[in-house]
Amino acid sequence: MKVLVVGGGGREHALCWKIAQSPLVTEVHAFPGNAGIAKIARIPKLADDSTATILDYAKRERIDLTVIGPEKYLALGIADSFAAEGLQIFGVGAEAARLESSKIFAKEIMRAAGIPTARHVVARGLDEGLKLLRSLPYPLVLKADGLAEGKGVSIALNPAEGEKELREFMGGRFKEAGRELVMEEFLDGEELSLILLTDGAAWRPFLFAQDHKRAFDGDEGPNTGGMGAYCPVSIGTPALLERCETEIIRPLLRTLTERGIAYRGVLYIGLMLVKGKPFVLEYNVRFGDPETEPLLMALESDLVPYLQATANGKLGATEPFEWHPGATATVVVASGGYPGSYKKGLPITGLDATDPAVTVFHAGSATGPDGRPVTAGGRMFMVTAHGDTLREAVATAARNAARITFDGAFFRRDIGHRELKRERT
Ligand code: AMP
Ligand code: GLY
Repeated sequence: MKVLVVGGGGREHALCWKIAQSPLVTEVHAFPGNAGIAKIARIPKLADDSTATILDYAKRERIDLTVIGPEKYLALGIADSFAAEGLQIFGVGAEAARLESSKIFAKEIMRAAGIPTARHVVARGLDEGLKLLRSLPYPLVLKADGLAEGKGVSIALNPAEGEKELREFMGGRFKEAGRELVMEEFLDGEELSLILLTDGAAWRPFLFAQDHKRAFDGDEGPNTGGMGAYCPVSIGTPALLERCETEIIRPLLRTLTERGIAYRGVLYIGLMLVKGKPFVLEYNVRFGDPETEPLLMALESDLVPYLQATANGKLGATEPFEWHPGATATVVVASGGYPGSYKKGLPITGLDATDPAVTVFHAGSATGPDGRPVTAGGRMFMVTAHGDTLREAVATAARNAARITFDGAFFRRDIGHRELKRERT
C-alpha cells in the first residue's frame, strides 16, 4: 500500500521511518517533508499545503492511507474532506480537533465529563480579565484559547504580571487566538505524556513518556516545544494507566460520543501528577514532538495496521502494542537563540558521523543550494537511541548529538534526569 504523511517535523520523520518498515507498505510519500524525510520518502512539489491540493494529490497518486502530523491541518478539517471522498485518513475531524484548538472547549468538556484538571475561569474581554485577575489566587496560569504554536501559556506570579500578560494576550500577541483566554490554577507536580490511538470506542496506549520543556540543563531557561524525551517512565505504572483510563479516557470518550463527536485518531494527554494523582493540563489531537521519536523507536509492533484500524473504527479487534525491552531517549539539537529568534541557512556538519545504531530524525532541516542540508528551524534534529538502560540510551544520544555541528547548535545533556535520580534512590 501507499502511505502519505503530511507534515515536516521530527515527528513526521519518525512516522515515515516507522511506516516505511511495515511489510504492508510499498511507498511512503510525504508533504511538505524535510531534508531527512527526503531520504526515505517521496516528496512531491505541490503548489500549496491546502486541503484541496493534498486531497487532489492523494487521489492522483492513489494513496491508500494518509497520516496527518500537525494539528493545523486537522483543525482546518482535512480529515472530514478525505472521509467525504471515501479516502482513508488517520487524524480526527475538525470538531474533535477543537479539543486542542480551543482551550475553552477542552475545559468545558473536561468539566462536563468530571475529568480531573486545574480549576479555571474564562475571560472574554479585557475588563472581565482585569476583574478576574484581582480576585484569583497566584501563581495563576493564563492560556490563550486558540492555537499558538505551543507558546500560548504564561504563568503569572502576581496580579501585576498577570495584567501585563493579559494586555499582551488580548492585544493580539497571538492574533485572534488570544482574545479569549482560560485562567487556571497552578498545579505543582511532575509532567508526563500519555499518547494513545483511539477510534472513539477502544484505545491502545503507547508507553508513558516524559518531555523536557525548558531550553537548558537543570530545567532552566525559557519554555520550548520540547528539548528531549524518553520512555518508558517508571512512575507511569500499570496502576497509573488504569487510573487515567477510568478518570480521564473513558469519561472523555463517553462525553464526546454523547455530543455526537466522532474521535478517530491520536489523543495526546498532557498530565500533571500531583501527589500521585493525574490531572489533565491539555489535550492535543496529534502525536507529541519529541515524545513520538522515542515512542516509535521503542514500538515493536507494526504501526500501520493500528493506524488503519483507528481510521476504520476497528481498533477493538487489535492486540495491545508490543514494546522492545530497555529504554529509548531523544536529544534535540536546536539552533542558537531558540526558542527566540535564530539564524537560518547555516551549513551542518557531522550528520554522517553518527553511530549506525542511532537515528537522527530531522525537524527543521532544508536542502541548501549545493544539495547539502542547512538549518531552517529552531529545533533541528531529534537524535534518538535505544539502550538496555535509560542511562545508556541518553549517553548514546547525547554523544551523537555532540557530533552534529552548526554555528550556535546546542542541546541538553540531562535528558531523563528525573528518572535517573529515581533509579539512584
Ligand atoms: P499546555 O500547552 O496547556 O500544556 O501548557 C504548556 C506548559 O505550561 C505545560 O507543559 C506545563 O509545563 C505548563 N502548564 C500548563 N498548565 C499548567 C498548570 N495548570 N499548572 C502548572 N503548569 C502548567
Ligand atoms: N512535546 C510537547 C508537545 O508535543 O506538545
